[in-house]
Amino acid sequence: MGRLVVVSNRVAEIDSRGEASKGGLAMALSAALREHHGLWFGWSGQASAAPGPANVRRNGGIDVATIDLTEDEIENYYNGFSNRTLWPLCHYRPDLVMHERAYGAAYAQVNEKFADALMPLLREDDTLWVHDYHLVPLARALRARGAQNRIGFFLHIPWPARQVLSTLPRHHQLVQAMFDYDLIGFQTQGWLDAFEDYVVEELKGSLDGAGSLTALDRTVRAGAYPIGLDMGEMRAMVASEAARRTCATMKAEDQQLLIGVDRIDYSKGLPQKFAAFEQFLEDEPQWREKVALLQIGQPSRTDVEAYQQLHDRLLSEAGRINGEFGTLAWAPLRYRAQSMPRDVLTGAYRAARAAIVTPLYDGMNLVAKEYVAAQDPDDPGVLILSRFAGAAAQMREALLVNPNSREDLADAIRRAVEMPRAERIARWKALYAGVARDDLTAWRQSFLHDLLGDRPVGGQDPLAR
Ligand code: G6P
Repeated sequence: MGRLVVVSNRVAEIDSRGEASKGGLAMALSAALREHHGLWFGWSGQASAAPGPANVRRNGGIDVATIDLTEDEIENYYNGFSNRTLWPLCHYRPDLVMHERAYGAAYAQVNEKFADALMPLLREDDTLWVHDYHLVPLARALRARGAQNRIGFFLHIPWPARQVLSTLPRHHQLVQAMFDYDLIGFQTQGWLDAFEDYVVEELKGSLDGAGSLTALDRTVRAGAYPIGLDMGEMRAMVASEAARRTCATMKAEDQQLLIGVDRIDYSKGLPQKFAAFEQFLEDEPQWREKVALLQIGQPSRTDVEAYQQLHDRLLSEAGRINGEFGTLAWAPLRYRAQSMPRDVLTGAYRAARAAIVTPLYDGMNLVAKEYVAAQDPDDPGVLILSRFAGAAAQMREALLVNPNSREDLADAIRRAVEMPRAERIARWKALYAGVARDDLTAWRQSFLHDLLGDRPVGGQDPLAR
């Protein structure tokens, strides 16, 4: 193949060695870009009044090209259509979806703008890999400008059921634009099934049983490619000084630690998690003063109202629960609204007896996998995982729960803190084997392999164990 061109709304910082400074996905993509002398294109994260052409710089053999957006575009394309319309829609929150024509118009316009700035940088033999819901119409905009390259699209978030998607005005238009890609990747078979259902029922299209969908006189291939961890990065983080120190400090405390790490996002089920923890304290008084929940909330999309309100709600709930159950020496629920370095987090994962990863809906959820990867094999903790996270399709040996049931989740917390070591080890071993095998390299290689080859993509089930 020629170069690989990755396009995403956000572009990671790349250092002089061609390595991304943080984040598993960014690192995996930068590894692929280094191999293929690639280009990473996206939004600079900055606003400017009259943005010019892309700013291109080379770092460690990777070209990074970014464009600025105007304040209006950031408001209507990023905060608006991406995060007030598509995000809640894809996470089954139609009650939070805002429908504004200005959002849809800016979404189309920014995708055109991406295409305008990217076209002059493209070579004929480049392969493009577009990421996530901000950029669904990008292939269509590029094709309209004459691009004949192979273009793949990967959706990191859930694909909603047809009945939910069709509440979006002009939903046909959004899906039609996906037929300008050569290959579409979803995190799980479940999200892929929902997409196929839409194509068959709404567009009266057909499936050929080998991963190809035909509708509107066009054919596109689609498959499930569950994303995984960069295991090299994980091992290095587990061994790091920061992780060891954090783990030792936390283990020295005279109580079992439960941990949650989430962006402060309504899809993550945080109020439900707090309520279940409260129920557990209520039901199991013998565990009071012996267990604490550390919930790290990474601030996110703070210009969007639904996110601001959530932080306020969590703060007051944590205060109330601590007021109700806490003692002079013990705060049961520690809610920290701050981002932490990944190596420190890894140490905290290792110190925790259980992780509570209970989104109401989630495309995949890599925290679940990171928690497993960070455990001590001789004394591993327990993963409590929502059955509505994409990760649940692979991580069957976790304690799978319905996060909407406060009582079921409270029971799972009790099972986790009481679980005998032998059972913890057996479950962890099975989980770890899957996490280590279905890693980030496997993910990107299988996607790129299918994008570049012409073979059917439905023939093998990437989730099969
Ligand atoms: C999810 C999305 C990503 C997004 C990330 C952080 O993981 O799938 O596309 O980058 O959240 O959200 P933000 O809005 O800060 O980019």
